[in-house]
This record gives sequence, C-alpha cells and structure tokens, in this order.
Amino acid sequence: MVPSSSLPPPAVMWLFFWALIISPAASLTCSSQKFTQNHVYPNCLDLPSLSSYLHFSYDSTNTTLSVAFVATPSKSGGWIAWAINPKATGMAGSQSIVAYKNTSTGAAQVLTFDVASYSSILPKDLSFEVWDKKAESRSDGSLAIFAKIKVPADLAASGRINQVWQVGPGVGADGMLEKHDFVAANLQAKGTLDLKGGQSTTGSGGNDKLKKKNIHGVLNAVSWGILFPLGAMIARYIRTFESADPAWFYLHAFCQVSAYAIGVAGWATGLKLGSESSGITYSTHRNIGIALFVLATVQIFALFVRPKKDHKYRLYWNIYHHSFGYAILVLGIINVFKGLNILSPEHKWKTAYMIVIIALGAISLLLEAITWAVVFKRRSQKSTKPYDGYNDGN
Ligand SMILES: *[C@@H]1O[C@H](CO)[C@@H](O)[C@H](O)[C@H]1NC(C)=O
Ligand SMILES: *[C@@H]1O[C@H](CO)[C@@H](O)[C@H](O)[C@H]1NC(C)=O
Repeated sequence: MVPSSSLPPPAVMWLFFWALIISPAASLTCSSQKFTQNHVYPNCLDLPSLSSYLHFSYDSTNTTLSVAFVATPSKSGGWIAWAINPKATGMAGSQSIVAYKNTSTGAAQVLTFDVASYSSILPKDLSFEVWDKKAESRSDGSLAIFAKIKVPADLAASGRINQVWQVGPGVGADGMLEKHDFVAANLQAKGTLDLKGGQSTTGSGGNDKLKKKNIHGVLNAVSWGILFPLGAMIARYIRTFESADPAWFYLHAFCQVSAYAIGVAGWATGLKLGSESSGITYSTHRNIGIALFVLATVQIFALFVRPKKDHKYRLYWNIYHHSFGYAILVLGIINVFKGLNILSPEHKWKTAYMIVIIALGAISLLLEAITWAVVFKRRSQKSTKPYDGYNDGN
C-alpha cells in the first residue's frame, strides 16, 4: 500500500537533497567568483585539487592567454602559485607565477619563478612573455593572481598546455617560499588546460566543444534531472487512485524507459567529452554518472524478472526497486547541478532547472498529503480489509 512503505517518500528525499544543494560547500565554485576592476573571463574551471580555480580567456589570433587564478594559501601568510610547464607535466621546469601578502606593506604581490628543479626555486623571468601581472587579497582569505601570457607558438599550435598549481604555508623575510606539503592533493595539482575548452566565440574547436557540452547538458538534465523524478512521482502518486490502475504502470514504465534512452545518449556524450579532456577530470561528476548508468540499467533489466504481485519474493523485488529508484532520483539531480557548475552556462539555466525541481518537489509534497488522506479515508471505511486487493506494485 502506498504510504506504508518503509522507504522515505520522494518528498522527504527532496528536502534532504535540497539541503545538500543549498549548503555552501556545494555552491562554492568558480562560476560564482567575481573580481573587482571589471575582470571578466568567459571560461572558468574548478581545478580538481587544493580548492583552486582558474578563470581564463584565450585569444587564438595572437595566442594571448589571460588568466585569473584563485586559491587559498595553506596557512595565512602563505603563498599560491600557478604555472605553465612548457616541457613536462610536473613541477620541475614549470614557469610559475607566485603571489603572497607582503608582511611589511600588507599588499598582495606577485613574482615569477623558474622552478628548474625542486632544490632550485629562484625569482626569475619566465621563458615566455608575461604582462599585466597583479595579485589581490580577497575577503575570504584567498588570493588571486592575474596575468596575461604570450603562449609560445608550439604550445599554441597544440591547443593544450600543462598547468601546475600549488599553495604553501609561508614566505621568509628574504622572499624564499616555504615548502608546500607533499600530500596527495599537492601532488595531484596539475593537469592539461585546453585553451579552446568551453570557448564560445573564437575557433571552431571551441564552438564545437561547447555545442557538445550543451547537448550533453540538455539530454542529461531532461532525462536524469526531470523525466526520472517525474516517472517516480507517477508511480508513487497516480496509483493511489484505483481508477488509474494499471494506467499508472504503463505511464511510469514509458516515462522511465524514455528517460533511460535519453539518459544513455547523454551519458555517452559525457564519456566522449571526458575522453577528450585529459588533465581536467571532473571525477565526482563522472563517477556519479557511471553509478547512474549502472543503477538505471539494472532497473530496466529488472523489469523483465519482476515477480508476480502475490509472489513471495515480490516484497524483496519492491525493496530493491524502490531503493535503486530513489538513489537514481537523488544522484541524478545532484549530478545535473554538478554538471551545471562545470559547464557554468548563463545563470538563467540553473535558475530554470531549480524552478523545475522546486515545482516537482512542491507537487510531490501536495500529492504526498493527498495520498495519505486518501489512504486514511479508505482505512476508516473498510477497516477490516487491507487494500492489497487493488494495490499491486508496491
Ligand atoms: C591580443 O589581442 C587582444 C584582443 O584582441 C588584446 O587585448 C591583446 O593585447 C593582444 N595581445 C598581444 C600580445 O598583442
Ligand atoms: C615587501 O615589500 C618591500 C617593499 O616593496 C620589499 O622591499 C620586500 O622585499 C617585500 N618582502 C617580500 C618578502 O617580498
């Protein structure tokens, strides 16, 4: 019977999920970072480690890369660094731009370092031209480095550069940088920067990629983010009405099978995008995506082995089906928001999706109340007989 399931109803899941989305940790991403002095960058990346962010724009006609790197020193009074490594992928050989707060002047200052090796880190001009270097202290304790870089021709031709970033605990009076930690987050702070990634105005490569990302976003938002929740709501609420049986079942199955078909297409575009962007891996988004695909595939195939209503194993099948269903519901919506944060489209898209989810949640709350009212009414009318006569799926 409908509300007596021991599993949390969608409305509760929805509230839980909403708390998760609103929490500050989830919303702290590059797309919400603003700069003073009208610095606006069309692209931004939440770098995969050390809570660091790169905002950039790239002009391929004159190979000029304009960056804003934001990170928080590992201790107050420490330093942050962003580097291009023209020849290798790690720290050795990297051409670094470093910022820290000067203790005597109180102002953030920026220096360049040629990290020839781990033991030789000296202030030095870089192997390529850098101008408009600036550092800024931000109100949340982070620092920002701004710079414009003339990308060397060979790197510009490949469209990819190796980037390395780092944060350290302090700076000596002589300007010597204190050693950073060597834990996993520090060692993983490197990747490939796709200069045309997400670029919407210059270069067909950038346009093409953006188009693919948008297609990926729309397919997945529609399937995992809207159709799956809608299908779950149909299963839970429509069948309260006896006259809707078995129509609700076909509606539910139709909704979820369509969602699955669209979702698999969206998932495949995601895999393609992932394979094309070596270096920057959005591992949480990718892992949730893979989990969703697995869970949904099991759901679709389990449809064929569904025991009959009165079979003794039907209860177990129901428990499994509902757990997987709710997991897909929550993970799907979370992943749509993760994807929105990565793609950072115009704000209206995120707002539009939030409105859809709020509306679905509100409708669920209302239907949840109606369902309970209907069930209580039935219970008082035929108190001797349980409702398993009509009740099928649960
Ligand atoms: C490259 O072009 C941009 C915009 O057209 C300009 O702002 C920038 O100064 C140019 N860079 C160089 C090195 O000429
Ligand atoms: C701080 O600024 C002063 C004045 O510009 C400069 O002489 C000094 O070297 C700076 N300190 C460090 C640690 O960079």
